[in-house]
Amino acid sequence: MPDMDNFKEASAFGVGTPQETAGFPLKGCGNLDWGMKNRLSRIFGADGKSLMLACDHGFIMGPTGGVERIDLSIVPLLEYADCLMCTRGILRSVIPPTNTVPVCLRSDAGTSILTNLNDNVVIAAEEAIRVNAAAMAVMVAIGDELTEAKTVANLYHTVDIGQKYGIPVMGVTAVGKQMTRDAKYFRLATRMCAENGANIVKTYYTEGFETVTAACPVPIVIAGGKKVPEREALEIAYKAINDGAAGVDMGRNVFQSEHPAAMIQAVSAVIHKGLKPDEAYQMFQDLAK
Ligand code: R5P
Repeated sequence: MPDMDNFKEASAFGVGTPQETAGFPLKGCGNLDWGMKNRLSRIFGADGKSLMLACDHGFIMGPTGGVERIDLSIVPLLEYADCLMCTRGILRSVIPPTNTVPVCLRSDAGTSILTNLNDNVVIAAEEAIRVNAAAMAVMVAIGDELTEAKTVANLYHTVDIGQKYGIPVMGVTAVGKQMTRDAKYFRLATRMCAENGANIVKTYYTEGFETVTAACPVPIVIAGGKKVPEREALEIAYKAINDGAAGVDMGRNVFQSEHPAAMIQAVSAVIHKGLKPDEAYQMFQDLAK
């Protein structure tokens, strides 16, 4: 461990000076192998942006609002998503195998008792390959005394699998209730995920987000978080993209909307067409009629 006394506060983030991408649309991924790049391209496309539809909430929370029946609420939205984030249980039991939307597979195990979350159990390599995962997602609880070490170990192990078989890994930053959700925390959490080998990092939008994306050498996608009014969710997505995010991995703000198909299309337009919040909200309202 270096002597922490000599470290100075970070400030030279170079916001506005993009990281060199070595000719690949996603930063930090230009030197990866063909299979990795191909899977990342399936998720992010030519513009390097992605709308991931998250419906993995049931793996620790059960059938909460919007994911009671994934066949009814999520499957009809797949045509608008660039990627589906779900568990292997839902994939096999509900998602039609004719689906061609790439899957970011929830690859760690969870319990409903949060202190025992992710007790060093991650998916077998063969299983991720068997279900044709385009990426593997594992949760990392930076700053949480009980679970940080276990979850960092999970990430590290999953990255070993991913590197061996060419499957990108997404580190999902879990924010404990006792932690301050500010840019400094998210810079720490996202950077630790990247340095431990994550190819994509999922985190939350916050003020100063441009420093979070600048200091993370791999693409960041934001989680949508708790349900807020549609206009607000669209604004968060817009700000995140504007501040350097490569996409959103949104769940509740899509599937808990009164008009999920309209909402997912409006979010997609923010990400891929650069619609401003008011324009996207107008689109949402038009589609919801
Ligand atoms: C992350 O670990 C969760 O399981 C969800 O995938 C994530 O929070 C995204 O969903 P939401 O937009 O509902 O926050």
